[in-house]
Amino acid sequence: MIQKVELPSTMEGKTVLVAGAAGFVPSYVSEFYLNLGAKVIGLDNFITGSRSNIELLSKYDLFEFHECNIYESMPDFSQTKIDYIFSLASPASPIDFKEIPLEIMRVNSEGTMHLLELAKEKKARFLEASTSEVYGDPEIHPQREEYVGCVNPIGPRSCYDEAKRFAEAMTMAYHRRYGVDTRIIRIFNTYGPRMRPDDGRVIPNFINQAMSGSDVTVYGDGSQTRSFCYVTDLVNAIHNVMFSKEHTPFNCGNADEYTILETAETVMKFLNSDSKIVYKGLPEDDPKRRRPNMDKLQSVSDYAPQVSFEEGIKRTAEYFKSMQK
Ligand SMILES: NC(=O)c1ccc[n+]([C@@H]2O[C@H](COP(=O)([O-])OP(=O)(O)OC[C@H]3O[C@@H](n4cnc5c(N)ncnc54)[C@H](O)[C@@H]3O)[C@@H](O)[C@H]2O)c1
Repeated sequence: MIQKVELPSTMEGKTVLVAGAAGFVPSYVSEFYLNLGAKVIGLDNFITGSRSNIELLSKYDLFEFHECNIYESMPDFSQTKIDYIFSLASPASPIDFKEIPLEIMRVNSEGTMHLLELAKEKKARFLEASTSEVYGDPEIHPQREEYVGCVNPIGPRSCYDEAKRFAEAMTMAYHRRYGVDTRIIRIFNTYGPRMRPDDGRVIPNFINQAMSGSDVTVYGDGSQTRSFCYVTDLVNAIHNVMFSKEHTPFNCGNADEYTILETAETVMKFLNSDSKIVYKGLPEDDPKRRRPNMDKLQSVSDYAPQVSFEEGIKRTAEYFKSMQK
């Protein structure tokens, strides 16, 4: 029987370390804990993150930043108290899989190990950001946490999928071997402002194509499905998992499922776009269906997504528009 989540009313006096703080999701996680009164220490080497996110976080007095590659060397934290560690540093877009596969594998293995060592030394609670990609091209639907996945270990996505599976395995090993207080989340497609407009993921692609009136590119026949979570809803899920009592993985996302064709049409409708849909070949190992079963997190917490798809798409489109000014 899993125990219920008890959320803290404040994080004042606590120190939270966020690896990957300049990135899309991690910048929201950092902001969330700064707003709860915590001191936040951010680490990033800017391989896919943005300096503007660090400028934004630097407006908070309790934010401290170290530029570093976490698989090469960590800052000296010998005199620093750390209570919570979020292991969020990893490129996550399919365009990165082709360009920086070894960096992805190293940050999720050696980088994660450095963070786990720090958690062990500081007796900090540690959360690993894994991914729905650990399920690969799933044979069961929707995906429950017990499902062990169907991943091609040598395919073009394997640098990411297998690295995250390794990161999960190492997190459980530190928990079992050293008693580190660990948590694991499996994030399903998340979108929102601060994504890179050109990062190759489906929502930024569709929004930018729809806004500019150029062709909207659907890969395959568009019948493959995805579930999309707005970023602030994801942060709420992450917070609930960090304060759960459970060490095994939680799916984190939004269970509403759309075909890719529906997604393209919906984005075009929300943005009043008269773009045309064009079809291109499906990439190798592209998962056919993706939808989280959210029962586990919902059975221990009040987590429920708050931001509708329409609202989320409009906010993200506004952000991309503001970047063009
Ligand atoms: N966004 C999603 O839909 C999604 C889905 C599943 C999992 N995730 C996971 O969530 C986390 C954040 O993803 P995101 O979408 O915000 O990606 P992102 O690329 O915007 O953020 C990752 C950050 O990590 C930094 N980083 C990468 N390697 C590093 C290294 N060696 N040393 C220091 N910093 C490093 C990058 O510069 C970047 O700022 C990742 O672990 C990702 O795998 C995200």
